[in-house]
Amino acid sequence: MTIDEIARLDEKYYCPVFGKRLPVEFVRGEDVYLFDSAGKRYIDFLSGIATNCLGYSDEGYKQALCDTIGSLMHTSNYFYSEVQVRLAEKLCTATGYDNVFLANSGAEAVEGALKLARQYHFAKGMPRIEIITMQGSFHGRTLATLAATGQAKFHEAFRPLIEKFTYVPVNDIAALTAAVSDSTAAVLVEPILGEGVIIPVTPEYFQAIRLLCDRHGALMIADEIQTGMGRTGALLASPALGAAPDIVVLAKSLGNGFPVGAFLARGAAAQAFAPGDHGSTFGGNRMACAAAYYVVCKLTETDILSHVAEVGAYFLGRLASLKADCPAIADVRGRGLMLGAELVPSVSAMEIKKALLDAGFVTATAGQNVLRFLPPYVIQTHHIDALIDALKDLLK
Ligand SMILES: Cc1ncc(COP(=O)(O)O)c(C=O)c1O
Repeated sequence: MTIDEIARLDEKYYCPVFGKRLPVEFVRGEDVYLFDSAGKRYIDFLSGIATNCLGYSDEGYKQALCDTIGSLMHTSNYFYSEVQVRLAEKLCTATGYDNVFLANSGAEAVEGALKLARQYHFAKGMPRIEIITMQGSFHGRTLATLAATGQAKFHEAFRPLIEKFTYVPVNDIAALTAAVSDSTAAVLVEPILGEGVIIPVTPEYFQAIRLLCDRHGALMIADEIQTGMGRTGALLASPALGAAPDIVVLAKSLGNGFPVGAFLARGAAAQAFAPGDHGSTFGGNRMACAAAYYVVCKLTETDILSHVAEVGAYFLGRLASLKADCPAIADVRGRGLMLGAELVPSVSAMEIKKALLDAGFVTATAGQNVLRFLPPYVIQTHHIDALIDALKDLLK
């Protein structure tokens, strides 16, 4: 099929939520490269939105999935599963959390974490429903997670929203202090606001959340769906911010392209759910566990995360130098391989993204005018140099 034929069928038969997509179909991946149906090669700076962390040539990953297809893909959570418990053990020992629940997506994992927070207070005989989240945050598209998302554009058609979410300005400790009370069930925060234009949370703010949650008996939940599983150069982004959340939510890179989400809990929060309180047919199935187990082993047993930290620092340095030479860039920010370049209002990030695609670079935008870079962890400095040269040409 030509790309125009695909686009026509998409317009006719697919729910129109994605509008007109970029006119490319990727049909093959190799290392950090994607190839379209005409054979054109692109360097991937998006990794399926922070998901394909190992790139496209990890033979061990493919083998783990093929072996599972060849033996048994799915049973049910009625039965024990060795690969599921191996993954659970590996995730908990690598992160210091006590237990894990496996879901199918980021939104489903956040939903589970929100339920866990409410159940935690309910079980203590003092139900609390208020969850504090950040203005500009993004937590998913289900009814609860879109209500958790601190962006009004996601709310309009879905009022009345599920109660009760309060949105505070990120990195404003005074506003947070005023908002957290003895009615707060939990504070939910992304260590770096991802869809919300790559805003890193400061260590002081992250620690203030912990302090206020402890003071008021609330739970701290980190949405590490984008930052987690190595994207910032450490398995989780939270420890470097100097506080340990009670619950951490994962997805995206956890499966390296296979759909899987998870929440990890520790302490009393880990004991809040009892049999029957939560569940999932597909969550934690053999395919998802085989994928995620391989990823966790790879991230914890090789030096790939130090590579992420090194190459991420190099990338940020190159973006910062480009900004110094290029008035079209207003700001550069992020950590590890989760980086953004905010452009001045007169230059459209959307247009630059399209021009980069023509030039063979897959990138994304965030918010109004931020170019977003989320490459696979196996990206090398020469790929980054090539992107910076292309950006320099386009922005001059
Ligand atoms: C921080 C964060 N939370 C939640 C989600 C929702 O994840 P999913 O799209 O897998 O439901 C996303 C997706 O972009 C995200 O970035």
